[in-house]
Amino acid sequence: MNTPCVELYTGAAMPLLGLGTWQSQPGQVQQAVEVAIDNGYRHIDCAYIYANEKEVGAGIESRIKKGVVKREDLFIVSKLWNHFHDEDEVKPSLMKSLANLNLSCLDLYLIHSPMGTKMPKDPSSQEVEFSDVDYVCTWKAMEKLVDEGLVKAIGVSNFNVSQLERLLSSCRIKPAVNQVELHPYLTQAKLVQYCKSKGIILTAFSPLGSPSSPLKPAAQKNILEDPVINEIGKKYGKTNAQVLLRYHVQRCVTVIPKSVSPARIIQNAQIFDFSLSENEMETLEGLNKNWRTGSWDFAGLPNHKFYPFKED
Ligand SMILES: NC(=O)c1ccc[n+]([C@@H]2O[C@H](COP(=O)([O-])OP(=O)(O)OC[C@H]3O[C@@H](n4cnc5c(N)ncnc54)[C@H](OP(=O)(O)O)[C@@H]3O)[C@@H](O)[C@H]2O)c1
Repeated sequence: MNTPCVELYTGAAMPLLGLGTWQSQPGQVQQAVEVAIDNGYRHIDCAYIYANEKEVGAGIESRIKKGVVKREDLFIVSKLWNHFHDEDEVKPSLMKSLANLNLSCLDLYLIHSPMGTKMPKDPSSQEVEFSDVDYVCTWKAMEKLVDEGLVKAIGVSNFNVSQLERLLSSCRIKPAVNQVELHPYLTQAKLVQYCKSKGIILTAFSPLGSPSSPLKPAAQKNILEDPVINEIGKKYGKTNAQVLLRYHVQRCVTVIPKSVSPARIIQNAQIFDFSLSENEMETLEGLNKNWRTGSWDFAGLPNHKFYPFKED
């Protein structure tokens, strides 16, 4: 069974559940994509910076060749990395992702973050030099990709309300999606409400709290072990992960859990056969602690003029 979809303002159907691929190693990620497609996933979340798009593309190709799926049934997303915000760099960056994925068109291309940076001269350096390119200029180059038919929709990631407002006031093509960290420990109610009011679909990244993220602050508890979520899961015979994923799809937020474990990929898709009550949704919302696992709190980025996480 294919997973249910939400409709983008462009009219395209975006599957509510997708497979995340950050930190999925080459050697593991092709199989993960294959297992996902075999088990009804039709949406794969990629990014140039994840350095595994070739293997993701091999997984997609193998399932198309095997006849499990057609290209037009898949929803493939990638992201423009921070080093390539300059208007001249946008199309070449997309073309690299398309070549890696062995595709001629993406369903959605996102600006990975509002913060432009420069390519380090020394690749081993941890230092990041900021670029002064305005994401509003980057967006104009993103719009041209739609005009050229290279991407069906464009969107952003890690943008806050003010940044979205600024973009909306000057864009020709509206962002279709904002991909941000969302889970009951970081509910971002104001941002969610704002996106809904503007017809921008949200994608929840790190929906399981990204337990193995190198960026996760050590003091933050693992949401997969939260006793309140555990109690809700017991009632339905579901795991904490399934409750966490169900929470998003039930409010039409698309969700992209990462796994390279076949059993977990399958488990994470088994979220369309139960519903959480209104009270349970409110209980989950009430767990908010404003805990962000991916705060981009490295290499001086909080001093970037477009650092998005000072709002709220
Ligand atoms: N736009 C952005 O800036 C941004 C930032 C972060 C992430 N993302 C996207 O969002 C995706 C998901 O976020 P994420 O990778 O940070 O974290 P996540 O999906 O919240 O968590 C992934 C971790 O949970 C484990 N896991 C998966 N399913 C599980 C289950 N059912 N039970 C227990 N553990 C489970 C995975 O391990 P195994 O693989 O071993 O199963 C992995 O360690 C990323 O892969 C990426 O595509 C985007």
